Amino acid sequence: MTPPTPALRASSMPKSAIREIMALAAGRSGMIHLEVGEPEFSTPGHIIEGALQAAREGWTKYTPNAGIPSLRALIAERYAKSRNIQITPDQVTVTVGAIGALFTAVMVVADPGDEVLIPDPGWPNYESIVHLAAAKPVRYLQRGENGFLPRPEDLKRLITPATRAILVNSPGNPTGAVFPGELVQAIADLAREHGIFVISDEIYEDIVFEDGHVSFSGRGIDDRTLIVSGVSKTYAMTGWRLGYLIAPPELGSICAALQEPIISSAPTVSQKASEIALSGPQACVEEFRSIFRRRRDIFVEEFKGSDLLPSVPDGAFYGLIDIERKGMGSLDFAKSFLLEKNVAVVPGETFGPSCDRFVRVAFTIGDDDLREGLRRLRDYILA
Ligand SMILES: Cc1ncc(COP(=O)(O)O)c(C=O)c1O
Repeated sequence: MTPPTPALRASSMPKSAIREIMALAAGRSGMIHLEVGEPEFSTPGHIIEGALQAAREGWTKYTPNAGIPSLRALIAERYAKSRNIQITPDQVTVTVGAIGALFTAVMVVADPGDEVLIPDPGWPNYESIVHLAAAKPVRYLQRGENGFLPRPEDLKRLITPATRAILVNSPGNPTGAVFPGELVQAIADLAREHGIFVISDEIYEDIVFEDGHVSFSGRGIDDRTLIVSGVSKTYAMTGWRLGYLIAPPELGSICAALQEPIISSAPTVSQKASEIALSGPQACVEEFRSIFRRRRDIFVEEFKGSDLLPSVPDGAFYGLIDIERKGMGSLDFAKSFLLEKNVAVVPGETFGPSCDRFVRVAFTIGDDDLREGLRRLRDYILA
């Protein structure tokens, strides 16, 4: 008998081309890495020390599915204060990374066959998660000429009786776009009008350069909003794998229960480290933000005066560069650019069909290397 084949749901899961570029970049000396989506700084020392101390004190066992009660309370308090709304700890589920919160949110709102609106361009994991939930990802456009923001009228047109949720991401990966308050409100109104959920990925909420972040909580739709965030980007804690989901009160216990068969509970030491991050000194948040702002400025400076920069990123640590004049697809472009100029960027096609004329640059490396990598990119496109 031949061995059985893997489940179609697993084998047909859409895969990201980021891995292809990373594999090509691996082991090449002198590479400039403009593809990496995480801060290059280490986690602040006081968080590491606190985590070590917690492990020594015995924080090495399972926790409740929803997380350590004191961490849930801390997250609820922080959100209630910053958004000026009522949030109870029961609404908070601690997850493995923001990705775990996204997975939980989609599993909670979508049944097989349901439609979930996801952004194009957007982070590729949205499509994979919706696929794994056996739901149908339906892409909405965020066009460069509109600052990579969605248009409520486009969203409205895509809503059908099968639509269960719209997934939004501000500040956005890969665009760096930050939704203004009116847009947040218009999307919230649309969700109310059509009786659908909003899953708002706010993992970059603390990396905003101009007007500040506008959350989807406190928009009059808290009975249908699931907020996704975590400590990965704000505190340079990507490897601790700690995120959280804030759900409407009636959904809190379902979100918590879903952790049992997936992760049981998020890593205990990481939960303690996150408690320290959220309750300790916050100077590192501003320090990281100002580094990313400076690098964003370098990015804009290098492309100013060309028509290669479709929009100035206002948040996160990414920007898109137009490669259309090169006359090649973004994956072919990224591969030849890497092989010829020793710089890695992410092909836009990874983020959705509309994005094949772009590549994504991450400002997560030191200023000098960043400048050099950007110059090589500009010269390569214009050559
Ligand atoms: C838009 C977006 N959401 C979520 C995540 C996942 O965050 P975490 O590392 O906490 O799982 C990322 C990571 O790159 C991201 O870019």
